[in-house]
Amino acid sequence: MNTNQVHIFDTTLRDGEQVPGCKLDTKQKVIIAKQLELLGVDVIEAGFPISSPGDFRSVAEIGKAVKDVIVCGLTRAVMKDIDVAAEALQTAQRPRIHTGIGVSDSHIQYKLRTTPEKIIERAVAAVKHAKTYVEDVEFYAEDAGRADNEFLARVIQAVVDAGATVLNIPDTTGYCLPQEYGAKIAYLRDNVNGIHNCILSTHCHNDLGLATANSIAGIQNGARQIECTINGIGERAGNTSLEEVVMIMRQHPSLGLYTNVNSKLLLETSHMVSESMGMMVQPNKAIVGDNAFAHSSGIHQDGVIKRRDTYEIIDPAEVGVDQSKIVLTARSGRAALAYRFKNLGYNLTKVQLDEVYQEFLSIADEKKEVEDSDLEQLMKGVAA
Ligand code: KIV
Ligand code: ZN
Repeated sequence: MNTNQVHIFDTTLRDGEQVPGCKLDTKQKVIIAKQLELLGVDVIEAGFPISSPGDFRSVAEIGKAVKDVIVCGLTRAVMKDIDVAAEALQTAQRPRIHTGIGVSDSHIQYKLRTTPEKIIERAVAAVKHAKTYVEDVEFYAEDAGRADNEFLARVIQAVVDAGATVLNIPDTTGYCLPQEYGAKIAYLRDNVNGIHNCILSTHCHNDLGLATANSIAGIQNGARQIECTINGIGERAGNTSLEEVVMIMRQHPSLGLYTNVNSKLLLETSHMVSESMGMMVQPNKAIVGDNAFAHSSGIHQDGVIKRRDTYEIIDPAEVGVDQSKIVLTARSGRAALAYRFKNLGYNLTKVQLDEVYQEFLSIADEKKEVEDSDLEQLMKGVAA
């Protein structure tokens, strides 16, 4: 399989919801799932059905609520998990079972206390069991980022032969460098028979701040699905952020790759997830942070006012942001001040601007940000 479409697998409601304090109830999850469908993601990982009755219910309700998108349930390579996931997914029009097991030395020896051969046996048995329920079976090789590539290829070969059609290669601990992760994907693409009929998937954690870079390295080396979350939320330092990978593909046509995501809904979706989870988005977050399109230094403001793309590589309207912000601080120059006055309906002459500028600086030195109300106040003292 080698098309130019990169499938977006959203795991906000599963990996994202594992964040302490971010628990959602079924109603909230259904609302977010509908928004994700509108956004244009290809797969929604709706939960881990065996983990709790609430998660089971959420997967079943999401299955009923959405139509066009694949609904996925997570399991371990445990028969009972798979039975329960299959039951929860009965409501879904396009169900997927996501099963898997640890494949790094650390997971095999210390977490699962077993042998590499037994890992392969359990992986194959899980995939075969899942296939008795659904056609669409995705396998995850947990901690693939730290696993030996030769062993990883043996596991992936065995699950492809058993019927898995999507192969998730998680960098569970966020350890890999982009080049290393890309090489891992390329190694599998080159060493597993039949892999070209399957979709290779990235699932990168952000422990070293490399989740987005690693996901992009993955797609540059043949992966065609990215697992990600809105606002990059997820275990520990989080997952790959959906809005970042989508915009990277849009802003770099030379990659030759696209997604079905409607980028104009990114900000709205980010706000919805942040508000319902009570998890604020850092102001400097790429694409959806409050400051992503805000300019506060005089040099930058002057450039952006003259021509937006001097300091912006994305048109804010493309991601659902009304317009760039010119923030007035003590670092702002006359151009920014005149621009903000103009937005309030005052076209100042050069003399008037010189007059208010010094007063503006005194206010700005005292306040973090000068507001429209301060400008209105300033105008009262200006000679007509
Ligand atoms: O990070 C990880 O390995 C996971 C798997 C369960 C897919 O979340
Ligand atoms: Zn994960």
